[in-house]
Amino acid sequence: MTLKFLVLSDLHVMPEGELSVTLDTGARFEQAVEAITARYGNADFCVLAGDLADLGQPAAYERLKAIIDRIPIPVHITLGNHDDRDSFLSVFGPSHIAETGKVDKAFDIKGYRIILLDSSEPGRVDGALTASQIEWLKARLGEAMDRPVIVILHHNANALHIESDDIRILEPHAFIDALKTHPDIRQVIAGHVHLTSTAVWRGIAFTTLSGGHYQCTVDQPHVPMRRLTGPGQMAYVIGTEDSTTVLFDDYIDGNTEIFLVEA
Ligand SMILES: [Fe+2]
Repeated sequence: MTLKFLVLSDLHVMPEGELSVTLDTGARFEQAVEAITARYGNADFCVLAGDLADLGQPAAYERLKAIIDRIPIPVHITLGNHDDRDSFLSVFGPSHIAETGKVDKAFDIKGYRIILLDSSEPGRVDGALTASQIEWLKARLGEAMDRPVIVILHHNANALHIESDDIRILEPHAFIDALKTHPDIRQVIAGHVHLTSTAVWRGIAFTTLSGGHYQCTVDQPHVPMRRLTGPGQMAYVIGTEDSTTVLFDDYIDGNTEIFLVEA
């Protein structure tokens, strides 16, 4: 009984005919769906981990929904800082809202508990989990003390030691303390940084994936971040009783730098 699922993030879909940072993000999401159909039709589900729509317009969510309808496996969704919760709900329906008032979800599958957390807050680029969400998380973890847990959310809680650390979850300690109430947190998977990373912080494994939009290069004080056209990347997670593995599938390759022309 092996759990297999995909995490996609940072789709940044625009309405038909519109580009985001020179990229046709809707077409790129379609390429992701083609990859899922070709290679992962036997996966248990996929997660869309936020920044679904670049500017949060209803027309972008309509386009997103039409593409999602072609995904051959179940789809679970949470939101990121580019999303507009009301606009998302107007297209996808109110059933996505949990008792926390945000787009959170918990479910059990093949011996694992999967928890999605909505780290977006209206008007903010950085991430935050409310006190209500922390209590909800503790309760969902408390129900699942006998099985491993994977948490998926948009914003990274751990510092990656790059410039965009100032837009992660800036007050992560209540979140980490909640995770530490459980003995077997296998992974905390996020998008947001448009960069692939793995880390261990306070004994917990953290992963970010590059996602579907442009990739950010690693910056340093003397080396500014550059935007690359690829890869378009999803994570492929394989869970057994005693191991959890994260692979990365670059469904769009490419590392050409994007030069923005000032208007
Ligand atoms: Fe993003």
